[in-house]
Amino acid sequence: MMKNFKPNWLVECEGQHFAYSEIVKITNDFASIIGKGGFGTVYLGTLRNETQVAVKLLNSSSRQGSKEFKNEVELLMRARHRNLVSLVGYCNEGETMALVYEYVANGNLQQHLSADVTQDVLTWKERLEIAVDTARGLEYLHNGCKPPILHRDLKTSNILLNEKLQAKIADFGLSKVLSTESATHVSTAAKGTFGYLDPQYCNTGWLNKKSDVYSFGIVLLELITGRAAIARDEEDVPIHICQWMCPKFKSMEIESIVDSRLQGSYLNSSARKAIEIAMACASSTAIQRPDITVVHNDLKECLETEMPFEITEIVESDDAKMMKNFKPNRLVECGGQHFACSEIVKITNDFASIIGRGGFGHVYLGTLTNETQVAVKLLNSSSRQGSKEFKNEVELLMRAHHRNLVSLVGYCNEGETMALVYEYVANGNLQQYLLAGNT
Ligand SMILES: Nc1ncnc2c1ncn2[C@@H]1O[C@H](COP(=O)(O)OP(=O)(O)O)[C@@H](O)[C@H]1O
Ligand SMILES: [Mg+2]
Repeated sequence: MMKNFKPNWLVECEGQHFAYSEIVKITNDFASIIGKGGFGTVYLGTLRNETQVAVKLLNSSSRQGSKEFKNEVELLMRARHRNLVSLVGYCNEGETMALVYEYVANGNLQQHLSADVTQDVLTWKERLEIAVDTARGLEYLHNGCKPPILHRDLKTSNILLNEKLQAKIADFGLSKVLSTESATHVSTAAKGTFGYLDPQYCNTGWLNKKSDVYSFGIVLLELITGRAAIARDEEDVPIHICQWMCPKFKSMEIESIVDSRLQGSYLNSSARKAIEIAMACASSTAIQRPDITVVHNDLKECLETEMPFEITEIVESDDAKMMKNFKPNRLVECGGQHFACSEIVKITNDFASIIGRGGFGHVYLGTLTNETQVAVKLLNSSSRQGSKEFKNEVELLMRAHHRNLVSLVGYCNEGETMALVYEYVANGNLQQYLLAGNT
């Protein structure tokens, strides 16, 4: 229905038209400012039905403003999604142009990231959720809208957070609709914001979906590091976040990359993955950057990796508290038992009884000196993948203790041998039961 949408049809197509006098009433004569952007001031408002709204009043003087206004109304009428701010209506009377949006109660992401107050610092999980939400909104614009929409001004001050800290992309003043579904780019003079502007687009005027992916990468780097896209160094010289990242990324100094205000409350595996995604998005050429759908899926995985942390918070046993600042090299001191290779051989009676085969190694039945039965997973020493998985699993299971998670008794990491020792769960896996029932 919206395909041939023209602004003057607006009234008929669900967008509400407001008279100037109504805008004055709604905002209580522009009493409360909630934000300022490049094109106008945003006020808090209340509709007759008590719904709170945000009203952006455009600077009437600028010709630029009028173009932005029409653009934003037109786009937001077409594009509706839980991760995009939604438009309630607009006012276009005489010199006055105003946009009426749903009110997003928790301000913009830039305010949250620059907050100095330590107790208000966004947690790692909240940051990942905001990244997933933003990627989902952008994915909808790029791959869900026909023809696709390019945002062109994605940045932390254009990402709004609601009371549940769910993210919504705002500010469609600069957005562009690709002419057809198959069009991949438009040529246009570079517009956007310093720090977030795709360098390839700046140099060539070649605007495409990957220009938004670059800006998204910068937002993700800000979420990870807590630094601004452009910050000043000790000598007051502006430094771009990619330039700051580069040497640290080469040596993957996770602790010096991730926002120190998080005080280490994140999993290294999850942080590493997020950093890799961000750096891929912020690559200097479009071809090196992933599609936003891939980014969205990778970030969801990254969030899932972080989930065990949530469990330790719920259980919050003394163990969990103790494990909070857990580092792999402190394993032995914090309850995880280290086994020598010879002990693994003894426990498993020289690997006498196989109880399972997985992607990374076989699992053997074992018995500890105190008669407790255990399951011992011996990892294929050859695969580098295996070693990554091993470290990951030790790290996770040491932190996450729950009656519905298999628990780790200890590990062995001697020379080439990597083994994990779990509690023995006596009744096999669910798949075995389901398959058995079928035959
Ligand atoms: N719907 C909204 N709910 C709450 N705050 C908003 C809303 N829209 C905008 N704001 C606030 O106003 C600021 C400027 O809005 P924006 O749409 O980005 O304007 P501009 O186009 O002038 O940059 C935002 O960064 C945000 O803090
Ligand atoms: Mg803005």
